[in-house]
Amino acid sequence: MRTESPRAIRLEEYRPSDYLIDRVDLDISLDAHATKVRAMLAIRPNPEGTPGAPLTLDGDELALEALALNGETLAETAYTCQPDRLTIANPPRDAFSLTIETVIDPTANTKLMGLYRSNGVYCTQCEAEGFRRITYFLDRPDVMAVYTTRIEAAREEAPILLGNGNPVAAGDLPGGRHFAVWDDPHPKPSYLFALVGGDLGSVTRDFVTKGGRAVRLAIYVESGKQERAHYALDALERSMRWDEDVFGREYDLDVFNIVAVSDFNMGAMENKGLNIFNDKYVLASPETATDADYAHIEAIIAHEYFHNWTGNRITCRDWFQLCLKEGLTVFRDQEFSSDERSRAVERINAVRTLRARQFTEDAGPLAHPVRPREYREINNFYTATVYEKGAEIIRMLKILLGDDAFACGMDLYFARHDNEATTVEAFLACFARASGQDLTHFALWYEQAGTPRVVVSSHYDSDKRQYRLDFAQSTPSTPGQPTKDPLVIPIALGLVDHDGGALDHRAEGLSDGVFVLRHSSDSLIFRDVDARPVPSVLRGFSAPVRLSLDLDDTGLLTLVRHDSDAFNRWQAGQNVATRLLTRAARDEGDAAGETATQALAEALGSFLDAQAAQDPAFAALMLTLPPESEIAQEIGKDVDPDAIHRAREALRDTIARALAPRLEALRAIPVAAGPYSPDAASAGVRALRNIALDLLVKADAAGIIEALAAQYDNADNMTDRLAALTSAVHSPTVPDALRQRLLTDFRNRFDDEPLVIDKWFALQSGRAEPDTLAAIAELMQDTAFSINNPNRVRALIGAFAMNNPTQFHRADGAGYDFLADQVIALDARNPQVAARLLTAFNSWRMMEPGRRAKAQAALERVASRDGLSGDVADIVQRTLD
Ligand code: PHE
Ligand code: ZN
Repeated sequence: MRTESPRAIRLEEYRPSDYLIDRVDLDISLDAHATKVRAMLAIRPNPEGTPGAPLTLDGDELALEALALNGETLAETAYTCQPDRLTIANPPRDAFSLTIETVIDPTANTKLMGLYRSNGVYCTQCEAEGFRRITYFLDRPDVMAVYTTRIEAAREEAPILLGNGNPVAAGDLPGGRHFAVWDDPHPKPSYLFALVGGDLGSVTRDFVTKGGRAVRLAIYVESGKQERAHYALDALERSMRWDEDVFGREYDLDVFNIVAVSDFNMGAMENKGLNIFNDKYVLASPETATDADYAHIEAIIAHEYFHNWTGNRITCRDWFQLCLKEGLTVFRDQEFSSDERSRAVERINAVRTLRARQFTEDAGPLAHPVRPREYREINNFYTATVYEKGAEIIRMLKILLGDDAFACGMDLYFARHDNEATTVEAFLACFARASGQDLTHFALWYEQAGTPRVVVSSHYDSDKRQYRLDFAQSTPSTPGQPTKDPLVIPIALGLVDHDGGALDHRAEGLSDGVFVLRHSSDSLIFRDVDARPVPSVLRGFSAPVRLSLDLDDTGLLTLVRHDSDAFNRWQAGQNVATRLLTRAARDEGDAAGETATQALAEALGSFLDAQAAQDPAFAALMLTLPPESEIAQEIGKDVDPDAIHRAREALRDTIARALAPRLEALRAIPVAAGPYSPDAASAGVRALRNIALDLLVKADAAGIIEALAAQYDNADNMTDRLAALTSAVHSPTVPDALRQRLLTDFRNRFDDEPLVIDKWFALQSGRAEPDTLAAIAELMQDTAFSINNPNRVRALIGAFAMNNPTQFHRADGAGYDFLADQVIALDARNPQVAARLLTAFNSWRMMEPGRRAKAQAALERVASRDGLSGDVADIVQRTLD
């Protein structure tokens, strides 16, 4: 029997709530198995709702203990109550209070939604629909209330008690218990509620806003790990300053608290004044965290902080509007990182993520618009499309309107919609108003799924001295959207001559270097052009599209050498490589391919000579080949992951051999003197040195194995140590004995560091070797592994399914069967994490027929299970449909 996924919720069926809740007074007495929750709700009919409608509050696995209306116990005939709803048939026509008592068991809460315990710490997660697991409520974001929270606990078990807003009272109680009262004056939806109780250490700092408000910042972590929270605290202060400087946004409470917990379904959560983080995005020390970890911490601290305005002060009317807060906040955190680090490097990395995660999603069965019209399980819509493509839409808006009009639009949005739960339409209306532009057509980006393809062909007429670019756009059909309309696509471009000079020829229709494609096809004509130039199109990746450009390798290599746009310099190298890799993977390798490979290696060589020392982080990206997933996308159907892997390994080895002497030189670029620092410049040097190491190991250069072992043994930081270990694990040229020695050393050295053991798990599950699946089965028995911890699951099982294409897509289907088994096992405990793992199947339809059949069988086995969660049922059904 097939489990039906829950009923579909539709955007067009949105109706305002019949009731509003203005105030919430919570009294929560923490206990490991029987936490008592008393909620007093000040309710009134919504003037926009249906008068006299029954009041139905949401619940999820709740047990009601008591219910009173205006202080009087409610007769049992006046209401009906189930674990998932509480209905009062005839509530008063005027404002009234409802007092609800529930008892919940945080220790038994394995879904990690609502109130749960992580390493003994009480914490909550309420987005999207977790508050209803704490008390019965109108658990929808357009119901905004001010909250006071009284928290009580045993002092010994939970000396620290934190809530939203400002602390207003605290004290001792009989029997070793104590309490704290928190007051949050800002109206908020229930998904932003949070509380924490536990024995935690902290680091603090005082911050004064531009407007003069004194704010006490604090980060709470497992006792003893405070030292590792300083970088996050510093990132928080820089984020607060940046939001003041760039968006004019100040903080609005007396305290800002962050708590790191070990068990968390996602990355972090922006609860008002009390962010709760997966500890992997807070804790960092040079010995345990890589440069990339530091960069992620900085970005996620910023992201959650920026939500205070884009998400909390202005929130979403309903969950269809999720991109209103997430796309915009990702855009803001990307801008922050670009200002703090290298803009070009940040952009390239953002586009790599977009292509790897969002383009794949958009090309598969789970494709959906940035603003979906329908969902069955909202947890399944925290996707790369909503986040990453949502951010791209904001970036395009800024390009189309220009910086000034964009800034005015943002200001208007903050002024108009503060304290509201609003919509994408209301957001766009601010920018239409600020710029005087009609954004109706642009808004289609929110509605239409799929990645547009833009085809550009160039024509040079030497008689007329004219150069013409012809553009055509099309978007492939996606589930539920068979036909597509043309979008508004801003295409930044320029011309380069063959000697590398920038040509400043103007064309009608090109303004500030941006051409806006609005129709299915259009052209751009440059006059007085003396010789055929090289076009540099989609500079800075100005729109989230796939570009096909009729440029040969010579033209692309000219761009590698000379384009003034760093993104396109990088992209041109990627394009040459992609062309070689798709041909080789289709078994079309030939002599022309060898010549092209040599030409690419030479271009990279001269690039390195000219620029590696100036911009090591960028040079490291230039030396990175497109990932296998991108080649698979490019091939599009009947994909053989083994052929792609072989092609990529071969190309990388050839380039490595051709560049070997230069790579030796790169290995010697010095990192700034002094102790380890995670700053972008030092990180860039390490990235370049380490990619050089890896390429040399793959090229089997003389003496490099010894150098690798020495780097591992002598490293004073995790970046260099892990880079050496990674090369050892992924390079067949490294002797088994050395690989084993390093893996064992790493395990022993970091035995009591779960976040480091995650790296150890992920490394081994990512090996493109036939015995990897067997190794994973063994690692699941390791004492450090726990199916209950989402980070462990993602490190061992997620990394395998998402980042190991040859082994997950094994021809015998064993990878698929393994994942299906794990999803089924995990679903009973944590449906959200199980559903997320299952999305690894989203490319199954483009596999060659043998793998396709095996994937389908595994998916059908999951689908046919009794008692699947709504989360997994929704993903498996959409994946199969
Ligand atoms: N709102 C969080 C963020 O993006 C993500 C999140 C969603 C966390 C749902 C937990 C649950 O910042
Ligand atoms: Zn977010």
